[in-house]
Amino acid sequence: MSGFSYLQVLQDADLPWVMSVEQRAYDFPWTLKGFENSMNQGLNYLFKDEDHKSLGYCCVLPVLDEATLLNVCVAPEHQGRRIARPALEQIFAKLKENAFQIVFLEVRASNEPAIKLYQSIGFSEDGVRKGYYRAQVWDEQAMELVEEREDAILMSYSLVD
Ligand SMILES: CC(C)(COP(=O)(O)OP(=O)(O)OC[C@H]1O[C@@H](n2cnc3c(N)ncnc32)[C@H](O)[C@@H]1OP(=O)(O)O)[C@@H](O)C(=O)NCCC(=O)NCCS
Repeated sequence: MSGFSYLQVLQDADLPWVMSVEQRAYDFPWTLKGFENSMNQGLNYLFKDEDHKSLGYCCVLPVLDEATLLNVCVAPEHQGRRIARPALEQIFAKLKENAFQIVFLEVRASNEPAIKLYQSIGFSEDGVRKGYYRAQVWDEQAMELVEEREDAILMSYSLVD
């Protein structure tokens, strides 16, 4: 298996693959409409290997000189192989070249792989939005998944030297 090689702009034809990964990777996946909206408004990329195979994707919403990372996901079978970090670093380098100043994001407080990824890139924590996300937790007594709320950690990464 080869690693991350290059970025490609997300196209309509990629959406079936993206949706299948999204549904496997998240408890609360985006809908098709979410990706269609992002493709109308934002910068959306596939992460490809040298054999042109798709490994993951991300969705970025630019507003003036600020960018918000709305979604980043690597297919479960490719996670932990240093795909997301080089892919995001390439995207942030492009944003910087285009005079963007800062990248914002929100991440679930329990999502340790993602928080570690963002810290390893250089993001810092700006605050917490209490109970921002829906969450599924296992209720031992009822022996079923129940819905709770989970905090969002707000992070940012300056693109200015
Ligand atoms: C978060 C995610 C995008 C990381 O992608 P990835 O390609 O596996 O990440 P990388 O291999 O590039 O890892 C880069 C750094 O992130 C951190 N990291 C990644 N996976 C980790 C894990 N399971 N546990 C702890 N740290 C982890 C490490 O610091 C790692 O650096 P290192 O390899 O030098 O230790 C991936 O796990 C994923 O798609 N998760 C499901 C979707 C999701 O939660 N997206 C984030 C929404 S906010």
